Amino acid sequence: MTDLILASDRDAVRILTVNRPDKLNALDGATLQALHAAFDAAADDDAVRAVVLTGAGGKAFVAGADIARMSTLSAVEARDFSLLGQRLMRRMERMPKPVVAMVNGYALGGGLELAMACHLRIAADSARLGLPEVTLGLLPGFGGTQRLLRLVGRAAALELTLTGAPVDAARARDLGLVNRVVPAADLEAATMELAAALAANAPLAMRAILDAIHVGGECGIDDGLEYESAQFGLVFSTDDAREGMAAFLGRRKPAFNNR
Ligand code: HXC
Repeated sequence: MTDLILASDRDAVRILTVNRPDKLNALDGATLQALHAAFDAAADDDAVRAVVLTGAGGKAFVAGADIARMSTLSAVEARDFSLLGQRLMRRMERMPKPVVAMVNGYALGGGLELAMACHLRIAADSARLGLPEVTLGLLPGFGGTQRLLRLVGRAAALELTLTGAPVDAARARDLGLVNRVVPAADLEAATMELAAALAANAPLAMRAILDAIHVGGECGIDDGLEYESAQFGLVFSTDDAREGMAAFLGRRKPAFNNR
């Protein structure tokens, strides 16, 4: 059986590839579970400092949940399928190291939900992104209504979910749905350059930033500020903070050790 998820390392960057190209990388239960295991492994491996997620085959990032498989589910099974995807995407969002979606084609339905659970998104100019669930008589069920609302605001979230119509990469960037758009031919190089830059940053500082931004998105400003200063104190006590400040003052590049 071929691997549903391919994993490879380029220096400190783990590249995960959803590998069902003949089905445009559609997500079935087994693929969701394999992705969850792959993210657990990347989280636990200290040598991995950043993760890139993409889709195999050049045509799609992920074209959504596997409609053929989904169409056979009972209501209870459908709820469990939704929960399985939600658990995976929560796991991704709460990764202690940055996760970058390399959106190399269609990111539709569950595929866009997957991309939205990543911390950063770079898209090829040829990519198309959308939540077409409504056209199937469904709604996004892997957290898409909630993450889209938080990413792009109510007006655009309602437009994308109620029409189901995909947007091109340029509009996705204008909406804030993706961070950057690059020519398709440059996508891999641009993504790996970004991921390598992330991987060179202080891991404990990035972890604290990921936590602080996550917590801040869920609470009021006073609690968020208190959390931020507590994290600042904690990170300040690390070897990497000494190293970062000493390197600046010594006019040299820092070498961070995750300590
Ligand atoms: C299962 C899929 C699929 C999907 C594509 N395929 N998307 N199979 N689930 N989501 C399969 C096709 O059946 C076909 O298989 C092969 O991939 C190639 O796709 P084509 O349709 O022939 O390609 P093309 O004509 O170029 O059209 C590309 C496309 C279209 C526009 C992306 O495939 C499409 O609209 N796909 C569905 C997109 C979608 O509705 N996604 C949301 C799903 S619901 P064969 O075997 O025929 O060659 C969802 C809910 C999430 O995501 C929440 C759940 C809780």
